[in-house]
Amino acid sequence: MTQHRLLLLPGDGIGVEIMAAVRKVIAALETHHGLSFDLGEDQVGGAAIDAYGVPLADDTLALARASDAVLLGAVGGPKWADQPYGNRPEAGLLRLRKELDLFANLRPALCFDALADASSLKRDLVAGLDILFVRELAGGVYFGEPRGIETQDDGSRVGINTQRYTDAEIRRIAVVAFDMAAKRRGRVTSAEKSNVMESGLLWREEVTSLHAASYSHITLDHMLADNCAMQLVKQPKQFDVILTDNLFGDLLSDEAAMLTGSLGMLPSASLGSSGPGLYEPVHGSAPDIAGQGVANPIAAILSLAMALRYSLDEGAAADAVERAVDRVLADGYRTADLAAGGAVDSAKVIGTDGMADAIVA
Ligand code: NAI
Ligand code: MG
Repeated sequence: MTQHRLLLLPGDGIGVEIMAAVRKVIAALETHHGLSFDLGEDQVGGAAIDAYGVPLADDTLALARASDAVLLGAVGGPKWADQPYGNRPEAGLLRLRKELDLFANLRPALCFDALADASSLKRDLVAGLDILFVRELAGGVYFGEPRGIETQDDGSRVGINTQRYTDAEIRRIAVVAFDMAAKRRGRVTSAEKSNVMESGLLWREEVTSLHAASYSHITLDHMLADNCAMQLVKQPKQFDVILTDNLFGDLLSDEAAMLTGSLGMLPSASLGSSGPGLYEPVHGSAPDIAGQGVANPIAAILSLAMALRYSLDEGAAADAVERAVDRVLADGYRTADLAAGGAVDSAKVIGTDGMADAIVA
């Protein structure tokens, strides 16, 4: 039996609570689904600053490299607000992503039927929604050189960030999108601004030629990113996989996320070309509710499901976890973030542990 080496990095705030919930699901997968895990655990973020003086220790990084997948809770919090910029909790997460060369960020926007009425859109527009964003994570305007704030000769200041993509960077993320689409509904929408940005024009050219050479069995559409933003609220179910760059992916995936309900529901995966994937909820450490036992653990549990699917080759177990979440929601159980707005049986509003127990059951 394959032993999956899984490193848990709970981090800060509610990260600790939701990771405890994930542990319950892992234990159930071992007991009832015949899976076997070699579990490691270490600190990241503020917890690592407290323990090791840095937000990601070299030894922790070595543990991550030796794992099949890394599951992270969340980092950050007011306790570490006075840390110098480069030693903030968030720097630990950025270093982890960079060292593992995680260039592909996968974010599903999935609408669970029981939550369709909580969407900001009408039920029929979002019921059954299942979009997978494939966002380039290692390049683009967030990393392009030169960067900085410069003072001109006349005393005025200029802030500089440069959008820069190489053909190889575009192709490697496009490969991920086409491969994902092949396992889904076979459709990729590539979003850029080729009308006004040369980096977007190169993006369109590279995606088009890769498609023609190797992926003609996939349906490819190109869409300008601003139109994509509109289409996401107009007719979101037209999409299967959305392939896009770092900046547009940041915005468009956040937009789509809100069609499907709470931040507490959203998982993510970040993949490299080899080595472990990093799986984490989209939300942060939620200092406002940390320690109260009320945080929604579903984003973290669905991140575990993504790890099972994309890094551990345990698709059936991933399906089982997602079905369990669907069932618990259909049975009316809600954490407080999902119960806001009423129309929920107050007896079925449960905490972090209760939700984990319900999903396990
Ligand atoms: P946040 O995502 O932590 O919280 C935003 C709001 O959503 C809060 O009201 C919070 O209570 C609620 N919320 C978030 N996750 C929830 C869950 N699972 N269940 C129920 N409610 C939930 O974002 P915020 O407040 O902007 O940042 C707090 C800290 O987290 C900061 O230090 C920030 O830098 C960090 N952060 C870390 C991230 C990460 O580790 N990947 C991502 C985003 C923020
Ligand atoms: Mg964002």
